[in-house]
Amino acid sequence: MNEAKQAIGAGIDRVDGRLKVTGRATFSAEHHIPNVAYGVLVQSTVPKGRISSIDSSAAGAMPGVLLVMTHLNAPRLPPHKPSGPDEQPPTPRLNLLQDDEIKYNGQPIAVVVGDTLEHAQDAARRLRIRYTEASGAQAAVLNFRSARQHPRKPKPQPGRPSDTSRGNLAGGVARAAIKVDAVYTTPLENHNPIEPHATIAVWEGEHLTLYDATQNISGVRKAAVKTLGLQPAQVRVICPYVGGGFGCKGTTWSHVMLAAMAARQAGRPVKLVLERTQMFAPVGARPMTEQRLLLGAGENGKLTAIRHDTISSTSFQDDFSEPCTAPTRMLYDSASLQTTQRLATLNPGIPTFMRAPGESSGSFALESAMDELSYALNLDPVQLRLLNYAAQDPEKQLPWSSKSLRECYRLGAERFGWERRNPQPRSMRQDGQLLGWGMATATYPANRRPAKASVTILPDGSAVARSGTQELGTGTYTVMTQIAADGLGLPVARVRFELGDSELPEAPVSGGSQSVASVGPAVYAAAQAALAKLVAMAVADARSPLHGARADALQARDGWLTTAGSGDSRDSFSDILARNGGQPLQADSSAAPGDEKRQFSAHSFGAVFAEVLVDPELGTVKVPRMVGVYSVGRLMNRKTGYSQLMGCIVWGIGMALLEKTELDPRSGRALNANLADYHVPVNADVGQIDVQVMDEADTHFNPLGARGIGEIGIVGVAAALANAVYHATGKRVRDLPIRLDQIIDR
Ligand code: MOS
Repeated sequence: MNEAKQAIGAGIDRVDGRLKVTGRATFSAEHHIPNVAYGVLVQSTVPKGRISSIDSSAAGAMPGVLLVMTHLNAPRLPPHKPSGPDEQPPTPRLNLLQDDEIKYNGQPIAVVVGDTLEHAQDAARRLRIRYTEASGAQAAVLNFRSARQHPRKPKPQPGRPSDTSRGNLAGGVARAAIKVDAVYTTPLENHNPIEPHATIAVWEGEHLTLYDATQNISGVRKAAVKTLGLQPAQVRVICPYVGGGFGCKGTTWSHVMLAAMAARQAGRPVKLVLERTQMFAPVGARPMTEQRLLLGAGENGKLTAIRHDTISSTSFQDDFSEPCTAPTRMLYDSASLQTTQRLATLNPGIPTFMRAPGESSGSFALESAMDELSYALNLDPVQLRLLNYAAQDPEKQLPWSSKSLRECYRLGAERFGWERRNPQPRSMRQDGQLLGWGMATATYPANRRPAKASVTILPDGSAVARSGTQELGTGTYTVMTQIAADGLGLPVARVRFELGDSELPEAPVSGGSQSVASVGPAVYAAAQAALAKLVAMAVADARSPLHGARADALQARDGWLTTAGSGDSRDSFSDILARNGGQPLQADSSAAPGDEKRQFSAHSFGAVFAEVLVDPELGTVKVPRMVGVYSVGRLMNRKTGYSQLMGCIVWGIGMALLEKTELDPRSGRALNANLADYHVPVNADVGQIDVQVMDEADTHFNPLGARGIGEIGIVGVAAALANAVYHATGKRVRDLPIRLDQIIDR
């Protein structure tokens, strides 16, 4: 078979776009379930202690109330039976009403189920809950500043060392002619996808169906199996659309299991949707970090030493560690390096993955410090990075699978107009405001996991491809349709892709920017396998014009098989099937990484350039334009791909200038738990964003040449903006978000 790729890479419109703009794309809370009841999550109002009493008599007597589920009457869950000494409980982060203990403010402590949402909400307000709040030496730990005085090492995790080193750090520091040694902090941030978490739990006998807003349908199934003591065949998870995930929907949180427990107890399907306010405690957050970065360099700008010590906040429920040192370990070629990751354990919330966990926070420190070093050396920031360009992975000592970062710097600088920059802080002005230009490097690892897919050619000559992956709003339906179309030799319009059902061939979590690289090859392989079956059918068919042709001399295009070259003889997909029984023709396939990670280090890269306008009297920062140029392997769809990178840059603007969850120092409760007070960028905050992607195919990493783009776009943005603010104002802001009081002229 000859391959002709037409659809992959094309900037086609989203195949689900029309459904979305007409409201026909069904999100998790929107599935129509007969007889559904409404669950409301009730949360603790103290940060630590015990529930001394819950009086649910008033709530239970309210009209329409079907169930008040608390730790006093919730179903007892099967005890965890570890299969090995190191196996963690399946769900250490879950609070499933099994006891009276409170570990954080906002912890789920009850579910009220009513026949309408209003009845359930009304009743939930009438629960009378008393606490014995922990005090004295046992009191809740709420302050990161004091908790980080007692950092601890995270539990060892395979492939994630908390301490790393190479070369001789002391020697490298001693040799340095110029040093930068500074402390950077990043705040607690909460995920705010526009679709909140939502679950509908439906029991039919002993079979559970969960309609859940998730980045990981198979993960939700596994959590239900382990937590509720079910068999995999008893659980089905359905999620055709997700309204944004960003990491918080990557793991299964308490409310999902609580909906299942409440539905069983109430004897009705239960829909449980978190309110916006409830997104700010029981479903994860990006942890606070304090990072100390030491850079040493010779007069020539060559790095002799890098030291990066990170402390990130974590919960008492597990050991989530924000891997801030990850980019530091591989980005620059330094003679010596040492990194440490430590944890400060706090009560508020449960830190978890948030878009580019590690790289986004870590690059703020590293790329700010690189900017500081460039000033100390009197070197251009781009030049400093080129001087320390890592020709291979300095930690793994492996060649890159592919890397066009040099070209990213060059093209980014050119499109931005970097050469017109006067490096002197406060030297550039526009419209009476201070103009600042800054830049930073971006990187994110290329991840890939095993995935399965199936492709069926239908009697009418169209095809359906299937895989149990997820659509987070990023374009998975569209891109997988393109990949299947090219694998089949069909136009995109004649291929449909299905996802979001745990009955489909299993695919990994849509996290770590890995869906295209993992699922794409499986879909392509299944399409090629289905096509091979069709070809075999045609050449063996005495009535086919292609009868007796060599299979490898045939070409599939637009739903026809033709002899390559002349194209004289041809047969259509539908005719071939019609003459051979008229049945759908299905092929299953899987794809998995091989040993390429032993031969290559696979990372994506980028160069980010930012312009700010600062009003020196008001301290306001505007972002008129940004340029991001990326080396991410082959882009599957120019339109959705550019849009995803652009959206990520927008979030970076939020990280730099707006986002911070403010905790009440007395109670550990989020004070700004709504979208009016927790600021995310809106159109007025965003100027021009110029996204470019290098023409590159990383076929060492996977056969499609794609590395994944879900997260890299946020990396480096906060540093580029902080560096631009320094250039504009002469004020180095090392604590995010950048605020008026840090830069206003006094
Ligand atoms: Mo991403 S933070 O791996 O969903």
